[in-house]
Amino acid sequence: MKKIVLIALTLFPLTTYAGVEKSESDRLPDLLKTTKEVVDPMPGKLKTLLVDEITNNGPIKAIEVCSTLAPAMAKTASQKTGWNIKRVSLKYRNPEAKADKWEAKAINGFEKELAANTDALMEKGEIVKINKKQYFRYAKGLKTVKECLLCHGKVENISPEVNAKLKEVYPKDLATGYEINQVRGIVSVIRPID
Ligand code: HEC
Repeated sequence: MKKIVLIALTLFPLTTYAGVEKSESDRLPDLLKTTKEVVDPMPGKLKTLLVDEITNNGPIKAIEVCSTLAPAMAKTASQKTGWNIKRVSLKYRNPEAKADKWEAKAINGFEKELAANTDALMEKGEIVKINKKQYFRYAKGLKTVKECLLCHGKVENISPEVNAKLKEVYPKDLATGYEINQVRGIVSVIRPID
C-alpha cells in the first residue's frame, strides 16, 4: 500500500494530486504567452504608424501619434482585456507615465540587457501580490530607433518647431537626450488573476 501511494506521489506532483491550485511557476508560461499575444504587436504597430506619419505629414503632426494614438491603443487593449496596459518611463514626458518601483526595476534590467546585446528581448513577467490579490505583471522594453530621436533625441538636434511644440505641451519634459538603442520606456501590464 505504502508503495502505491509513493508511486502516485511521484507521478502526480503533490499540488495536482491533492487538487490544490496550480503553483505559480505552473501558471507563468500560459500567463506570459497570453499577455505577449496582446502586448508584443503594439510597439511595432506604433513604430510603423509613427514613421508613416513622419514621412507623409512631418514630425509636428507625428507628435499626435505618440501623444494620442499610443495611449488610445493602450486604452482600447485595456478595455478589451480588463488589464491595465500603459507606457511608462524613468525619463517621462507625460507626468502620468512615471514608472513605479516594479517598472523601474524592469527598466534597469532591460538597460543592462540592451547594453550587452542590441537585440535583447527585454521582457519580464512575474506574479505579484498587491493588497492581498494576485496579479501578473509584464513589461516589454521599447528601444529607441533613429526616428524616435526626432522627438526624444538631444535637444540641440530636435527641430525648433518640434521643440517649441513639446515645450508648450510638456513643460516638464524629461524624455529627451536619448541615442539609438536605449530603453525609451516599457509597455507595462498589470493583469488580475485569481
Ligand atoms: C513626433 C514626435 C515623437 C516621436 C518621433 C516619438 N515620440 Fe514618443 N512621445 C512623444 C510625445 C509627444 C510623448 C508624450 C505622450 C503623452 O502625452 O502621453 C511621447 C511619449 C512616449 C512614451 C511614453 C512615456 C513618456 O515619456 O511619456 C514612450 C514610451 C515613447 N514616447 C516612446 C517612443 C519611441 C520608442 C519612439 C520611436 C519608435 C518615439 N517615442 C518617437 C513624441 C514622439
